Parts: sequence; C-alpha cells; structure tokens
Amino acid sequence: MTPPNITPPNPTPRNVADDSAQDARDEMRDELHVSEEFLAKYNRPGPRYTSYPTAPIWNDSFGPNDLERVHEAADRAQSPVSLYMHIPFCESLCLFCACNVIIQKNKAVALPYLDVLKQEVQRVSRSVSRQRPVVQFHWGGGTPTYLTPPQIEDLFGTTRELFTFAPDAEVGIEVDPRVTSREHLEVLRKLGFNRLSMGVQDFHPEVQQAINRIQPFELTRDLIAAARELGFDSINVDLIYGLPYQSAERFAKTVDQIISLAPDRIALFSYAHVPWLKKQQGSFAAHLPEGMQKFEIFRTGLSKFLGAGYLYIGMDHFAKPGDELAVAQRNRTLHRNFQGYTTKAGADLYGMGITAISGIQNAYAQNHRDIPSWQAAVAERGIATMRGYQLSVDDRLRRAVISRLLCHTVIFKDEIFREFGIDFDIYFADAREKLAGAREDGLLTENADEIRATWLGRIFIRNLAMAFDPYLEKQQLDAKPLFSKTL
Ligand SMILES: C[S@@+](CC[C@H](N)C(=O)[O-])C[C@H]1O[C@@H](n2cnc3c(N)ncnc32)[C@H](O)[C@@H]1O
Ligand code: SF4
Repeated sequence: MTPPNITPPNPTPRNVADDSAQDARDEMRDELHVSEEFLAKYNRPGPRYTSYPTAPIWNDSFGPNDLERVHEAADRAQSPVSLYMHIPFCESLCLFCACNVIIQKNKAVALPYLDVLKQEVQRVSRSVSRQRPVVQFHWGGGTPTYLTPPQIEDLFGTTRELFTFAPDAEVGIEVDPRVTSREHLEVLRKLGFNRLSMGVQDFHPEVQQAINRIQPFELTRDLIAAARELGFDSINVDLIYGLPYQSAERFAKTVDQIISLAPDRIALFSYAHVPWLKKQQGSFAAHLPEGMQKFEIFRTGLSKFLGAGYLYIGMDHFAKPGDELAVAQRNRTLHRNFQGYTTKAGADLYGMGITAISGIQNAYAQNHRDIPSWQAAVAERGIATMRGYQLSVDDRLRRAVISRLLCHTVIFKDEIFREFGIDFDIYFADAREKLAGAREDGLLTENADEIRATWLGRIFIRNLAMAFDPYLEKQQLDAKPLFSKTL
C-alpha cells in the first residue's frame, strides 16, 4: 500500500459531474453578473440563521430550570439525539478567527476542562433515556485534536458508556491539519469517528502569513490521504473567501489544489469581519478585498467547484452529487442546525462545554462562555445554561419558512398552510412586500403556490430570509453591530 503521507489520494480531479451540475453551471453563468450598486444594496449585515430567532434575541430569563423542563419534554417525546462537544483550545491564534477560542500552548489546561466536561456529559445523560438513539455526535471548537489521543479516547469512552449510539450514527470532528497526527486519526477511526472536517482557508503564502496560519498544501494533502486510507466516510474542507491579500487569480489556485484532493464536501465561508468582537482582525483590515473584488473571489470558487461536479447546497456549502447532503436536498429532507446543514431531521441537539448550544424541542439554550462560570454551574447542578429562548408559535412558523428557504431554496405555501393552518399570502403580506425589490432585482420568483430563490437569490439567500425576521428591525436600531455582512 502507498504510504499515506507521501502520495495524494487522487492527484487528478474526480469527474463527479452530472446533468444537473452542468445545468446549474450554465444557469449560474447567465445569472451571476452583478453591479457595484447591486452589491451596495445587498451586501449588508445579516444573520447566518443557524437558529431562528437568532442568538442575540435569546435572554437570561431562560435558565437551567427551563432547560430541565425542556429535557423532560424531549425525553417524553423519545426523539432521536444529537450530541455536540465543544473543545475551545487552539495552540495559536489565526488572526481572522471569529470562533470562541482559548489559545494555550500548555496542554495541561485541557485536563481540568475535560474533568468538568465529563461531569456535564454525566448530567445530560441522565436526561436522555437509553432507548433514544444518538444519531449524530459532533466535536467542534476551537480544535478538538488539540487534545492528545488518550484524552480523546477517555472523553469518547465516557460518552459512549452513557448513551446508546445508533449503528449508523454520524460521528464527526473538526481537525486542524497543523496539529493533527496520524496517531490522532487512527484513534479517531478506532473509536468510530466517520467524518472529518478540516480547516484550510487558503494556500497562498502571503495570505497565510497575514492570517498567521502557515499550512502547506502537502500537509493537508497527506492528512486527507491518511484519512482516506483509514476509511473515514466523509471529508470536508473549510475555505474562506475575502481574506487579506486574496485575489480571484490567487484563490483560483487554492481552489484547483482543493479540487485535486477531491473532498466530499466543501465549506466556502465568507470572511466575517467583526473587529468589534475580534480586535486582532484589525491587523490586516487595510488589505481586505471588498465589494466586487470579494464577489469575484467567491464567483471563482463557485464556478470552479461547479465545474468539477460539486453541487451548491447553499449558504457556502458544496457537496458531491452522491453525498447525503445533496441527496437530502433533492429529497427535501435537508435541515440546518448550529453545525450547518444536516440530514438528521427531528433530532434534539444537546450541547456540552463552554459556549455550547442546545436546540431541543422548541427551545434553545447556550452554556456559559467562560470556563469559571461554566465550571461553577456544572458543579452546582450539572446544567450550565447562561441564556436561552422558548419559541412562540409565530417563531416556529417563521423558523419553518426560513429553514425551507435556506435548505430547499423554495417555500411551498400549501406546506406551510398544512403545518400551521395559516394563509401564507395573508400572514406574510409584510414579508412579501419587503421582498418586492428582491423580486425586481431577480433574486426570486413568486406565484400563487411558491416563493423560489433564483441562482442569484441562492447566493444572497440570507437577504431573502431576513424579510421573514421581524426582530431585525429592532436589532438594526441598536447602536452595537451584531452581524457580519451577507457577502
Ligand atoms: C473551529 S474552526 C475549524 C477547525 C480548526 N480549528 C481549524 O481551524 O482547522 C471552524 C471554521 O470556521 C471558519 N471561520 C473561523 N473564523 C471565520 C471568520 N472570521 N469568517 C469566516 N469563517 C471563519 C474557518 O473556515 C474554520 O475552519
Ligand atoms: S481557525 Fe481554527 S485553529 Fe485557527 S484560531 Fe480559529 S478555531 Fe483555532
């Protein structure tokens, strides 16, 4: 067998194209020409809608008692379970990063964190009866492979003993190729992890220098080769467009290199510039591609990934046509939660670790953001809710509409009528009015039966979803900026 750390798994792009990809490519070429005025109108701050209502609406009147009540309701409903574990640590800071991270070279900090996390896992497991299958288990961060392989085994082992995993559970982890060894991958695979998501961002040396993330192509290539050899089912790669010193030509090379590695999925995130939250982003602010330049970088990525046969799932995500995300989109069973798109509809999500978010029944809850508060709350009662939200009927209705738009790119009005008993056109008269300009600008079509995003509308889908979000008006009046821009 070829040593995995020497040869790329598949040096030439795999041809995964089918007719629908070809059609999409042709349509996209026709539609994706925009003017500066268009960008000035639509490239404005807006949520990513990993939840509705969005996190700034949640509040601290929802606490641990409320979450316990929601836990009980979920257990009565015997819903399937999705578990999320947050490992906040990284060895060094990537200057673009907007995630909630703790930079710590000294790995001893992980030990007390893991002790508290295991207590939280114990407590959550008491609320989840053993008949309920865990269909999804995801480790995110930060960088979960900051942990040593024995630490990973220990945390995984504790969790596996306390919950019932479905035989076909999706078990995924975010890995940073710069700190992930072959031993890490071997242990992960042995434990049952079947999905990897790895950060790349951009391969250009000047970009890497500016963001303080030196990650040679060969390192990423070899890690993907090792993961394939070990039998991981699905490999995702994260890229970002809009980073300092990027240009369309430079990014084209990164995209070609990624295509040569043939990952199953690609997340092509828009760089979120939020210097009011992450001061270090100011270091390169003068070198960021903006407006049309940023759009051209995105369009280069989009065009090349479609050309290589990937399908655009929406909101920055691409997948091969045979990937279950693409299949779920075709079957209209795709859903969205805090980890992005998922095929596991109907599962209740239990988040553990600092900042972790739970989405259970019709409520959201977020854990304390700093280790001391989280640790104290876990020690006191096992539940570390800092804030949360119980959805009203109107929230649930709007969540269903926004979710359909983001996942299926079409809202069938009679589906909403059947689920909620409302006349769509009357109930959403104001939202339809707000969408009039987008209709004229070619972002959507509407008739008596449906509202459907066009190709251009799929790229600016956040703008369309915003029309259904009544909380935005008040949020936009607040002096403090909350969201990054939609492009
Ligand atoms: C938790 S990290 C991924 C795992 C690992 N820490 C790594 O960096 O390889 C999740 C992803 O969020 C994305 N991300 C972080 N900050 C971002 C920002 N400001 N704008 C857009 N995407 C961002 C990056 O693509 C990153 O890979
Ligand atoms: S991008 Fe990943 S490795 Fe870099 S600071 Fe953020 S979470 Fe850590």
